[in-house]
Amino acid sequence: MNVPLCCPDITDLEVEYVTRVLRSGQLSLGPRVVEFEEKFAAYAGARYAIAVNSGTSALHLAVRALGIGGGDEVITTSFSFVASANCLLYEYALPVFVDVDPHTFNLDPREIQRFIQSCCAVNTKSGALTDVRTGRRIRAILPVHVFGLPCDMDAIMRIAQKYNLQVIEDACEALGAEYKGRQVGTFGDIGVFAFYPNKQMTTGEGGMIVTNDERTATLCRSLRNQGRGVERDWLSHARLGYNYRLSDIHSALGLAQLERIEELLRGRTRTAALYEQALSGHPLIKLPPSIANCTRSWFVYPIQLPLSDCSLRDQLLTQLRAQGIGCQAYFPAIHLQPYFQQDYWAQKHFLPRTEAASKTCLVLPMFSSATEGQIRHVSKTLLELLETQSVSLAGAAHLRRDTPSGNRSSEGRDHAHSRMQPHVTTDKLIADAQS
Ligand SMILES: Cc1ncc(COP(=O)(O)O)c(C=O)c1O
Repeated sequence: MNVPLCCPDITDLEVEYVTRVLRSGQLSLGPRVVEFEEKFAAYAGARYAIAVNSGTSALHLAVRALGIGGGDEVITTSFSFVASANCLLYEYALPVFVDVDPHTFNLDPREIQRFIQSCCAVNTKSGALTDVRTGRRIRAILPVHVFGLPCDMDAIMRIAQKYNLQVIEDACEALGAEYKGRQVGTFGDIGVFAFYPNKQMTTGEGGMIVTNDERTATLCRSLRNQGRGVERDWLSHARLGYNYRLSDIHSALGLAQLERIEELLRGRTRTAALYEQALSGHPLIKLPPSIANCTRSWFVYPIQLPLSDCSLRDQLLTQLRAQGIGCQAYFPAIHLQPYFQQDYWAQKHFLPRTEAASKTCLVLPMFSSATEGQIRHVSKTLLELLETQSVSLAGAAHLRRDTPSGNRSSEGRDHAHSRMQPHVTTDKLIADAQS
């Protein structure tokens, strides 16, 4: 049985909405874009929403609209998709990577605080926070709600307010996720979402910027449309802009998906529950944690495997793929990407938890229309592979000695284990990475 990593959930409704646009003759700059923006803003709980042609474009415009540029630094995470750091480089700003929380994989506010205290100084006259190592000004924090799990927004916003930093939330993987009952992406100055077909909802390609600030919204609308002013004529350009527009065809697809968003999110939650049922308690698998006051929106199903050299994870990746199961090693650390090591922005980083996570995480298929049979098949295949690999059996024997509830069934379904039980080797991984 083949099970893809992701699969868009398209019904007659999407086909009907898109077809109507195709028959209308107005394929771009039409009413469906405006309607999509209004309905998305209402769903997210933001005053303004600006539709663009990708999550990357949304991030780029966010950075530009906040005036972040050369001479600036932004505190962010290296455990993310490259776009969340690239958007800074496009504007000649530098990302400063601080380490993640080893359990949530999200930016750790204590690490932000530690970086500020050990590497930064506040200018007594201007109040600006400066990285004393580079002389660059720290302008913003860019948290990423990785795998749809909300960051600790209270702590991040407290630090931002204390040091007068702006906040751009990368919620590209987190549509529908809530922190203390509020949609992520709406805490900072700007939040961004993405609609590639692996996301909770899709427009084929697409993205959305949300903000409560009218000036920022107006500027983003101008920037996505070649710098045109709102009232100016078509060939008058108020500023340097881009063509980052989303078409009415894409917006119509987005409208249909938005109408079905609760159903789409429920399907993903059901898929995650099936994985949890099948995989919980296995000593070699750390399941994704749940965090108090947070509702995760399932982007992928991330599990963590032991062994700091990524050998077990990579073997499983190859073997699962060979059996027709889509999976990925999300995320390779951005600071270790070849282009990041080569260019002028290359810096020394000490990010042991990020590197440990990037060596041990494996993401499994996740989509709203996944059947119980598909998820049971993925789980069973994974458990069988773990049983048959000598390396993992050796690891299991070693781990069983370290684990309080040692004896386990061969199916790995000992539900006596708490799902929140810390991964037996996480601390060791960090120690390995640090040494
Ligand atoms: C965290 C994160 N940020 C940004 C993006 C970029 O979105 P897009 O692919 O629509 O440009 C993605 C896409 O997967 C993402 O996962």
